[in-house]
Amino acid sequence: MMKKYDFETVVNRKNVGSYKWDQMYESYPELEDGIVPFSVADMELKIAPEIREGLKKYIDEMILGYTGPYTDYYDAVINWMKKKHNFDVKKEWISCSPGVVSAIYDCVKSYTEENDGVIVFTPMYYPFYNAIKVNNRKIIDCGLIENKGHYMIDFTKFEELAAEKDNKLVIWCSPHNPVGRVWTKKELEKVAEIALKHNLIIVSDEIHFDIIMDGYKHTVFQTLSEEVADITVTCTAPTKTFNLAGVGISNIIIKNEKLRKKFRKSQEKSSVHIFSPLPYKACELAYNDSEQWLSEMLELINNNQKTVNKFFEEKFDGLRAPLIEGTYLQWLDFRKLGLDNEKLKKFMNEKAKLFFSEGYTFGENGSGFERINLAIPVHILEEALERLYEAIKKEFPEFCK
Ligand SMILES: Cc1ncc(COP(=O)(O)O)c(C=O)c1O
Repeated sequence: MMKKYDFETVVNRKNVGSYKWDQMYESYPELEDGIVPFSVADMELKIAPEIREGLKKYIDEMILGYTGPYTDYYDAVINWMKKKHNFDVKKEWISCSPGVVSAIYDCVKSYTEENDGVIVFTPMYYPFYNAIKVNNRKIIDCGLIENKGHYMIDFTKFEELAAEKDNKLVIWCSPHNPVGRVWTKKELEKVAEIALKHNLIIVSDEIHFDIIMDGYKHTVFQTLSEEVADITVTCTAPTKTFNLAGVGISNIIIKNEKLRKKFRKSQEKSSVHIFSPLPYKACELAYNDSEQWLSEMLELINNNQKTVNKFFEEKFDGLRAPLIEGTYLQWLDFRKLGLDNEKLKKFMNEKAKLFFSEGYTFGENGSGFERINLAIPVHILEEALERLYEAIKKEFPEFCK
């Protein structure tokens, strides 16, 4: 089928406040033009024209007054959950938050006391650490087990940690950032069984749930059973799926009324509101009108991850880029180079002109890794891979084929 969408145009985000681009230029102000960073998880892709044109029309016709969620908005969210995830959601279960990270902070405050333990599966998306630390809770690390680039849950350890009475909450990431796992139903059932047995609450961050590679299937954790739904907070958003991170909207789905009330109380205490109509409208346009864009975007991610994987297999010895199952983030293994965190970063930035998310920021067991953002035009990715190869060949020829 003819491709409809433009995933080739590079949008120059220098000096417009993009976190990702600013980080790069803050460290290297003299960097030549044409280098695009691969770090923070927003996409270097133009948004769906359906969303762009819809927002333009809205601004033409409407007033940007104080706004809250409305019926068509809720319907768009509810229909998406049903259609894409076979997830039956009632309107009253939905709370809006400017972001999943903000919601996770509220969950930590709502469901735990100071010094309680919060279990996480590392390496892990780094804001989870902050949500626990700034609230004076304890990070309880249930490190994932890695075998040749495939990560698994250490269920024995999880059961031990779950049994400790001070550990009250799990922040669960599904699909998992940064290791790219789409957890199987069997794995989810085991997590649920342990959580139920030990009265844990699960905050299930499923923000990447629409970005699933061919051959894999995402299961929404709380759809496992009524009992599981009762202990779960499901964090969803259209922002990863449709490159709307800067719009700031997420839908936090909580079936259990007690948990929902506590969450909303915490939002109220910190005065968390979305007053702008644009986030709601963008989400509505995304979920109602932009499925075709998503499908083409997924094709791009699938191809890009295969390109990276193949490049590593053909060109390098001992360095790995395993295929992912979900997310648009690939976890690159440079441990064999034997560089410490600072040296690996410096090598990537200065020798290869590559700006990844540094593996160590995801936890100690992320040292030696880099996370690459695959939501980028193909030619930018290909140029980056060539720069990587040339730099490695020059400094570490023993790792090149
Ligand atoms: C697992 C995960 N959760 C949350 C977020 C950010 O969510 P938000 O922008 O809604 O706060 C990201 C962004 O990369 C993420 O990877």
